[in-house]
Amino acid sequence: MCGIIGKAGVGNVTPELLEGLGKLEYRGYDSAGIAVLRNGRPERVRAVGKIANLRDALDKTPLEACVGVGHTRWATHGAPSEANAHPHNSPDGKFTLVHNGIIENADALKRTVLADDKEWESETDTEVVAHLLQKFYTGDVVKALAETQKHLKGSYALGILCADYPDTIFAAALGSPLIAASVEDGSCIASDVGAIGGTLSEVYKIENREICMLTRDEIRFYTPDGEPCEKATVTVVPDALSMDKGGYEHYMLYEIMQQSSAVRKTLEPLLAGDFDLGFDDAFVRDGLKEIRVVACGSAYHTGLAAQLLFERFCRVPCRAEIASEFRYADPVVDEGTLTVFVSQSGETADTLAALRLAKERGAKVLSIVNVRGSAIASESDAVVYTNAGREIAVATTKAYSAQLAVFYALAVRFAAARGTIDEARRAELTHELAALPDKIQEAIDRAEAPARKLAETMAATQDIFFIGRRLDFAASMEASLKMKEISYINSQAYAAGELKHGTISLVEQGTPVVSIAMDGGMSDKTHSNMSEVRARGALTVAVTGDKNADAFADADVLLTMPDTDEWFTCSLAVIPMQLLSYYTAKNRGCDIDKPKNLAKSVTVE
Ligand code: AGP
Repeated sequence: MCGIIGKAGVGNVTPELLEGLGKLEYRGYDSAGIAVLRNGRPERVRAVGKIANLRDALDKTPLEACVGVGHTRWATHGAPSEANAHPHNSPDGKFTLVHNGIIENADALKRTVLADDKEWESETDTEVVAHLLQKFYTGDVVKALAETQKHLKGSYALGILCADYPDTIFAAALGSPLIAASVEDGSCIASDVGAIGGTLSEVYKIENREICMLTRDEIRFYTPDGEPCEKATVTVVPDALSMDKGGYEHYMLYEIMQQSSAVRKTLEPLLAGDFDLGFDDAFVRDGLKEIRVVACGSAYHTGLAAQLLFERFCRVPCRAEIASEFRYADPVVDEGTLTVFVSQSGETADTLAALRLAKERGAKVLSIVNVRGSAIASESDAVVYTNAGREIAVATTKAYSAQLAVFYALAVRFAAARGTIDEARRAELTHELAALPDKIQEAIDRAEAPARKLAETMAATQDIFFIGRRLDFAASMEASLKMKEISYINSQAYAAGELKHGTISLVEQGTPVVSIAMDGGMSDKTHSNMSEVRARGALTVAVTGDKNADAFADADVLLTMPDTDEWFTCSLAVIPMQLLSYYTAKNRGCDIDKPKNLAKSVTVE
């Protein structure tokens, strides 16, 4: 996952590289490093942990030069140590490079082409690239890079310094995002356009083994074989990468509080009928045979809700699929299949690979993406953007809510097109959908204090269970993921009726079991399951709508949310759960915005 940046500029580039790395920290924060070329000699400073540690290290050992590259790491090969931190050097010190991606055949290369190389500084896959460059270098870096790329399998975005070219950065990429751009005082590369300061609108996307050479005055391109070529810029509308926390202690809490507005901004165009889906209602009515929603993590959880919406309400078969499974499952999809890829970042490697597979097999490809211009958005037949604004906390909240909102709007539209709802019901649902942002705000206002109080008890627990049926089960899955990813408490979500088929044996005196029962049609059943765990000593927490509050009055802790239509309950059920996770993690002293072992963008499989 990792983020890379580089600049060939006029003055000292280190402060800019450091600032850019701060903006790339969402891609990983196991270690960070910067290397510069000073008078043709590479110098580097690396530090384990977050960018703040690198900043401290640079205070002690300043780097000053007008050409440099930087890296923030999410460890794939080798522990998060200084030795494994990028930039990495070739044994002769001529090459210094940063890498995002995975060299899948690194071990094989060490056994074959690089069998004579005995000196390895790190346990990383990246170091083989530095060794290959040294091996193939005869004075021309572009040629050496072309030859090196022939041996590499996997994915990479590379930023390379060569001691013989003191004012130049070389770059190449395959399957990992990398842009190059001219700025006022030089040329830059970065994993994300947002990491480069200023207001960029024209950038080069380096792809498919293309090679790029940047000096402060020019950017040149070469084919994978090392022949000079022309390349056009693309226009980008960079998402404002504001680092503002809105006065809150953590981005996560700020983003929870922004959910009403994120959902409103996402729904506005959709409620006004502004859909560009790449197909029309006639296809939805007559051509659509099946929907597959493919995604990872929380985005996959929105698929669990979508699956119910499309099947129950639109009467079209729908399956939510985990992207890392879908891509290797040899799925049967064709022109009658609508595949929907959901991603906040638009960069998730498994989701992107699954998308390419679906496209190859002739399925229609629609994506629901938050980051504009991202790879998933660019490669889809059509995109519906969630207008949640950039999300920085690793644990998603507002993007998840905005994704759900898109599915609601799609489901209403599909149901109308397929005639599974009449005009009156469509108007009713549309009206309720328009009211959803206000209800989300009300849910936040109502849940904040009780969630904070309940979190005092939760902080000391070892295990938590979340149970629910139908859409409440989809919400339980998300609630459970939120809890475990930021509080590190072992939490599990179960379809409420499934608990007694094994998992109930884990319930002991005082084990918290959260029953989500927003779906009126299922609340009696879920209440029975709550009673079953209560009989075994569980601490029962119930989340339900106002209408059902009396039925759940026997819960140890009752959180009531505003009522909404059965179709949209997931959006309100998750709000108290997000707040509960947040305050539980806070009470446990966890690093809420950057939980251990995680990164915001998962760009490796
Ligand atoms: C959720 O809180 C996660 N951090 C994670 O599961 C995330 O939803 C998943 O990695 C998918 O990311 P994407 O939406 O950027 O594709």
